[in-house]
Amino acid sequence: MTRTYVILSILCLYHTYTSFGQDCPRKQELQSSLRQLHKLLSAHEASYLQSLRSLRKKLNLLQGSAARQSVKASNGTCPKLEAPDNGRKLGKMLAVGHEVHFLCEPGYELVGPVSRVCQEALSWSGQQPSCRNINECASTPCLNGGTCVDEVNRFLCTCAKGWTGATCHTPIPTFFTVVNDASSAAATTTTSSPSTSSSSSSVSPSSLPSSSFVHAARCTQFLGSTRCSCEAGFTISGRDSSLCVDIDECEVFHMGQAGRLCLHNCVNTAGGYRCSCPFGYNLTRDSRNCKDIDECETRQHNCTRDQLCVNTYGSFQCVRVECPRIRNATYVKTSPVRCERNPCPVDNKACAQAPNSVTFHYLSVVSNLSAPRVLFRVSAARVLGDTLRFGLLGSRGRRHFTVQRSGRQTGQLLLVSPVQGPATLEAEVEMSELERRTTLGRYVTKVTLFVSPYGF
Ligand SMILES: *[C@@H]1O[C@H](CO)[C@@H](O)[C@H](O)[C@H]1NC(C)=O
Ligand SMILES: *[C@@H]1O[C@H](CO)[C@@H](O)[C@H](O)[C@H]1NC(C)=O
Ligand SMILES: *[C@@H]1O[C@H](CO)[C@@H](O)[C@H](O)[C@H]1NC(C)=O
Ligand SMILES: *[C@@H]1O[C@H](CO)[C@@H](O)[C@H](O)[C@H]1NC(C)=O
Ligand SMILES: *[C@@H]1O[C@H](CO)[C@@H](O)[C@H](O)[C@H]1NC(C)=O
Repeated sequence: MTRTYVILSILCLYHTYTSFGQDCPRKQELQSSLRQLHKLLSAHEASYLQSLRSLRKKLNLLQGSAARQSVKASNGTCPKLEAPDNGRKLGKMLAVGHEVHFLCEPGYELVGPVSRVCQEALSWSGQQPSCRNINECASTPCLNGGTCVDEVNRFLCTCAKGWTGATCHTPIPTFFTVVNDASSAAATTTTSSPSTSSSSSSVSPSSLPSSSFVHAARCTQFLGSTRCSCEAGFTISGRDSSLCVDIDECEVFHMGQAGRLCLHNCVNTAGGYRCSCPFGYNLTRDSRNCKDIDECETRQHNCTRDQLCVNTYGSFQCVRVECPRIRNATYVKTSPVRCERNPCPVDNKACAQAPNSVTFHYLSVVSNLSAPRVLFRVSAARVLGDTLRFGLLGSRGRRHFTVQRSGRQTGQLLLVSPVQGPATLEAEVEMSELERRTTLGRYVTKVTLFVSPYGF
């Protein structure tokens, strides 16, 4: 089409010139016209080549998509997958190579694989997972003889007599006001009492030993018998049941770990008791439990400007975040707890192999924390390579920690056994990104665990 147009134009022009045959154009004019014709030809030539190139491009594209189509010829899909009962399924693609992921509703735990892949054989990898109700009673949360009833995502305690609270940890207050018919007891005991000088007379408060912990009972005569009583916190005592003796609540209620009266220390007082907490803790509103004081928050710390204050249970720690010193690599602090490697010179292998970033993570836990337990997760924000690897660096943390993968882009640090405080443990978690087995980057997280001396 283009070519036809060019030729027609030339003919037409030629004709135009020839039509002026009689007045034969001058040599100059003719040359100028020829030049114009050349220009026109060049322009058409360029446009023609351009069309050709665009045509070739289109052809290539068509060829590519045709090739892809033929790859897709093994176009089968895996059978549709159902979400487990009480759970969800993520991912709708059923084609080969695609994955679906499974989640359970709160209160349920996944039994089986977290994800399944549609394989070449058009079947899903692994077994269909299910969601199992988490038995919240498994940890025997009901104390002091309470009975546990497992419900979805929670448990209910039926407490034994004398106990109350969500986990039956609170003793029901008992009033020890005792009203005795003491007439017969008084009759028998007064005769055999050698200690009281005025034993022959009836009970007289002034003659009795008295302190804030022991005092005379309030007695009344009624129809020839004596009735004595004590106020709350005291119990009636003495040979003739005429004394009120303080109840040592700390002793009486000193039962089992969590069931006791005070979380930490109990101080008996006249008619009552008082709880106290270790240094670094404040008594809570219920006057029985201890709450850690956040020294960092309340500015009670003495860390310097170049240190970071880390609150711990019962105390605080001043830490200094320092970027690694690795030969051939330099680091810059990009946040108070993060160092990133500066770009490496070309061909500097040592630098390229140094970690791309080092992040510092400080954790505070109580003593004897039950284990295994996930302490923290590390995740890749964006993945460039085809593989992510998670691992523990060095041998320092191996006794207490392990690193597991917990998702496609996530790894987690687990505490494997309970640690008795006070203690400070360290672990280095490495996440490395690979592309066809070549390391693209290494990201290190240095974890420091401050274990309190107390279990709270
Ligand atoms: C691919 O899918 C088409 C239509 O979806 C079907 O006609 C064809 O048989 C499939 N090919 C293979 C190899 O399964
Ligand atoms: C802890 O108790 C002290 C003294 O009762 C009080 O001054 C302080 O504000 C309390 N701190 C917190 C964090 O509650
Ligand atoms: C900071 O306080 C702790 C106790 O809270 C003390 O042991 C330490 O010596 C103090 N450090 C400085 C630099 O004052
Ligand atoms: C470390 O850096 C020096 C100087 O920049 C360079 O000569 C050397 O090859 C580097 N080492 C490695 C192992 O790349
Ligand atoms: C640690 O915890 C376990 C179970 O929670 C308990 O049996 C053990 O007595 C505790 N040890 C200490 C030293 O508190």
